[in-house]
This record gives sequence, C-alpha cells and structure tokens, in this order.
Amino acid sequence: MEAPTYSSKQVAEMLGVSPKEIPEGMRKDVYGPDDIWELRTTLDRFPPRVGHRRQLFLNFKGGTGKTSLSTSYAWRLAELGYAVLLIDLDSQGHATKCLGYEGDEFEKTLLDVLVRKTPLVQVIQKSSLPNLDFVPSNLSMSTMDLALMPMAGREFKLRNALKDVEAQYDFIIFDAPPSFGLLNLNALMAANDLFVPVLADFLSFHGLKLLFETVQSLEEDLNHVLDHVYIVVNAFNATFKLAKEALEALQTHYPEYLLPTIIRQCTKFAQASSEGRPVFVADPTSKGATDIQAMLDNVLPRLVAGAAAKNGATHAG
Ligand SMILES: Nc1ncnc2c1ncn2[C@@H]1O[C@H](COP(=O)(O)OP(=O)(O)OP(=O)(O)O)[C@@H](O)[C@H]1O
Ligand SMILES: [Mg+2]
Repeated sequence: MEAPTYSSKQVAEMLGVSPKEIPEGMRKDVYGPDDIWELRTTLDRFPPRVGHRRQLFLNFKGGTGKTSLSTSYAWRLAELGYAVLLIDLDSQGHATKCLGYEGDEFEKTLLDVLVRKTPLVQVIQKSSLPNLDFVPSNLSMSTMDLALMPMAGREFKLRNALKDVEAQYDFIIFDAPPSFGLLNLNALMAANDLFVPVLADFLSFHGLKLLFETVQSLEEDLNHVLDHVYIVVNAFNATFKLAKEALEALQTHYPEYLLPTIIRQCTKFAQASSEGRPVFVADPTSKGATDIQAMLDNVLPRLVAGAAAKNGATHAG
C-alpha cells in the first residue's frame, strides 16, 4: 500500500490543533505520515498516556469482525500519535493484508518466535505509518498449536516473547484467529484487555458463552485476570428486526461488558479490507471509520483514567 496522504484539516484534527497553529514553514498542500510525525514532535502534541496496553480482539466464532476492527483500531491509534504494534495471529494473514501486505512476502512469523526462539524484534515490520509496526502472518502459522503442544510453559510463550519490546509501544494489538487452541490461550495470557466483536445474531451467543467460560478458567487455573472485557457489536443493521432483538438480548445478558458504541454495517469497510487498505485511508468519513472513532472516544478515557490511577497508586507507594 502506498503511504496515505492527509489534508491540513485532517492533520490539524489528528494533532488536536487549529490549522493556523501549524508553523508556516511546515505547511503543505498534502501531508504524508512522516510530515505529521515531524509536526507532532515539533509541536509536542502527543496523546494522553495509557500505560502499556496489550489488547486482544478475539471471538472463537469466525467472521465477526476481529480483523476489520483490530486493524482499523490499531491504525487509528497510530494516526492519533500512539506507538502501536499490531500482531497478526491468524494463519489466514488477513490483518497483514488489511495493512496492504501479503503474508507470503515474509519469511519469518510469530511461529519462529514462539517455537524457534527467534527474538521478536527480528520479525517486526514497519508499516506506512512511522509509529505503527506489525508482526506479519502467513499459512506457516497454521502449525503453531501442534508445535506448542509438547513445550514446557506453553501458555506463556507469547507473553514472554513480548517482554523485550513492550516498553516501546503504547499499544500491542492482537488479531486472533477464530479457533479455540493454544495460540489463542497464549494471546489471552498476554492480554490486559479483551475486545470481543460480535454480530447481532443469536448464533453469536453460543460463542460468547464459551469465551466467557474460558476467561473464567484463565482466572481460576492460570491466575490471569483481564483488566477489561469489551463486547463490541459489529456490522449492525438497525433495519433488521432480528438484529435489534439480538442487541436487546446482549444488553440484558452482558450489560457490564457491552460497549455502548456500535459498529454499523458499512460496505466501504468491507471494500477497504478487500483492497488491503484501512478504512481510515479508504474513506475517513465512512460509517466504519466514524464508528471506530466513537469506540475509541469511549474506550481511551477509561484507559487514561486507569493509567492515572495506577500511577497515583505507585507514587503513593
Ligand atoms: N462493519 C462491517 N460492515 C460490513 N462488512 C463488515 C463489517 N465488519 C466486517 N465486515 C466484513 O465481514 C467479513 C468478516 O470480517 P473480518 O474478516 O473482519 O472478521 P473476522 O472475525 O476477522 O473473521 P475470521 O474469523 O475469518 O478471522 C469481511 O468480509 C469484512 O469485510
Ligand atoms: Mg480475522
């Protein structure tokens, strides 16, 4: 994918300044990602700290929007100035594709890291945004669960592998495959926060029950407690009676987890992924982009508040 370009209005909005505050010598007709990074550094406009969050997009059910949501969420976080690492855990390599790359282009994946002890830094790739890196995936990743099976400490491989790099990133975002196995268990063990994209249909309920049981057994058996679990309704179409009923059922059964912001069905979103472009590049005014931004507006303040509380607690001793 070619590097995206931005208008001065978009740049000002991303930096949280008025267009007039862009220094005259740095003004352009169109800006590239590196120009924005330079402006951000010059104006010292960085977003509020969130600590170092590791966030997993997972649902054992297929096709609920894990990849669409995780990649556009990660992309937008980077546009807003956070240092982000997106890790593609799925051998389908869809997150890799959504950033505009083919998984086959890459010789090494997370398989080399978790199974063959290759340091994670050696598989991290640069994207077209200076502060968004990614770990690609391809079909070779499909042997991961089998390869992990006989290993000692097999649930902790990913968490341990991240130790070398986690201080460099505000966010590490994982796009999980739709399966129930050791790699996803590793992902859960490595995550602080879990996003569960669901479709507003009743089939999605079965998957949710299994997921919540797994999260609970993680707490009981492996002593790992997630800080936040967010259910995100995706591809919502309010003209379908069944979708409205399913949403009401989610509100009844999972009120404490359900995010109030919903991602609407959006053709541009689907089209963008198939073209290997994040929706914020394809059409930043689309419903998909607007709704991911609304989701961020809801979630980020909670993370900032959480980080501040943690800092306060640390300083208080
Ligand atoms: N909000 C949306 N509006 C319209 N189409 C969407 C939306 N979200 C996702 N899609 C489309 O639905 C399909 C499945 O989405 P996606 O690949 O993100 O799901 P997934 O959960 O990652 O799937 P898998 O389980 O195979 O990894 C894709 O074709 C995608 O473009
Ligand atoms: Mg996917």
